Amino acid sequence: MTRRFDILTLFPEGIVTYLQSSLLGKAVEKDLLEFKVHQMRDYAEDKHRRVDDVLYGGGEGMVMKPEPLAKAIEQIRKDYRKGRVIYLSPQGRRLDQALVRELGDYQELLLICGRYEGIDERILEGWVDEEVSLGDFVLCGGELAALAVVECIARYVPGVVGKAKSLEEESFAEGLLEYPHYTRPEEFQGRRVPDILLSGNHGEIERWRRREALRRTFEKRPDLLEGLKLSEEEREFIEELREKRR
Ligand SMILES: C[S@@+](CC[C@H](N)C(=O)[O-])C[C@H]1O[C@@H](n2cnc3c(N)ncnc32)[C@H](O)[C@@H]1O
Repeated sequence: MTRRFDILTLFPEGIVTYLQSSLLGKAVEKDLLEFKVHQMRDYAEDKHRRVDDVLYGGGEGMVMKPEPLAKAIEQIRKDYRKGRVIYLSPQGRRLDQALVRELGDYQELLLICGRYEGIDERILEGWVDEEVSLGDFVLCGGELAALAVVECIARYVPGVVGKAKSLEEESFAEGLLEYPHYTRPEEFQGRRVPDILLSGNHGEIERWRRREALRRTFEKRPDLLEGLKLSEEEREFIEELREKRR
C-alpha cells in the first residue's frame, strides 16, 4: 500500500523539488510513496489569503491564524485511515531512530510547517497529535524538519532503499554507530584500507566491523552504550577502551 505524506507549508516550491529528486522521486514513480504538498494560503478565508496575525497580549512577531490551519487539517485528513498529524516545532519530541520507527507505523502523516512565532496554541490542543523537533535549535520554518522526517521514515518503506540489509547495519539500527567504510583505491595519499577488509575472511570482517562500531560509539556517542545489551566479550572490549583512555 502506498505510504502517504501530506505537507502543509507556505513555501511548497523547494519542498516539491526535493521530493522529486533521488530515491524519494523514484519511490513515487514506483507507487511506494505519495507526496501531497499543500499551500497554506489556499485555506485562508479572506481575499488577501492571510494566514498570520498579531499576538494577543502584545509582543514582537506574528502567529499563524487558527482558521486556515484547522480547515486544512480537517480537509486533508478526512480520507486518512491510520494517520497522524504532526506539527514540526522546536518544542516537540526530539527526532531519533525510535521515533522514526514509531511514526513509520502510520499509513498517512500530515506534517505542518510553522513560520513566524509558530501556530495558534488552540490548533495544538485540538488538531495536532504530536509535536516533533529536529533538535535543540530554532529554524525559520518547519520545512527542513518536515523533509528530514519524511526522508528517514521513507527509507524504511519496503522497496525504497535497494538493499534492506544496509538499513539493518546502519547507525542507530542496533543502538550503535555504524563501522567505518572504505572504497577503492587501497591506498590514498599514504592512508591504507585496513588489511582485514582485503582478507576475504568474512567471519573476521564481521567481527572487526562489530568492534569498530563499538569503538566509535564509545568514542563519539558513549551515551548510546548505556543500557545496551552486549555480550561478555563486547563488554570486555569496552572496558579495555576505557582503560586505555585513563
Ligand atoms: C522561528 S520558529 C518559531 C519558534 C517559536 N517561537 C519558539 O520559540 O518555540 C518558526 C517555525 O519553525 C519551525 N521550527 C523551528 N525550529 C524547529 C526545530 N528545531 N524543529 C522543528 N521545527 C522547527 C516550527 O514549525 C516553527 O513554528
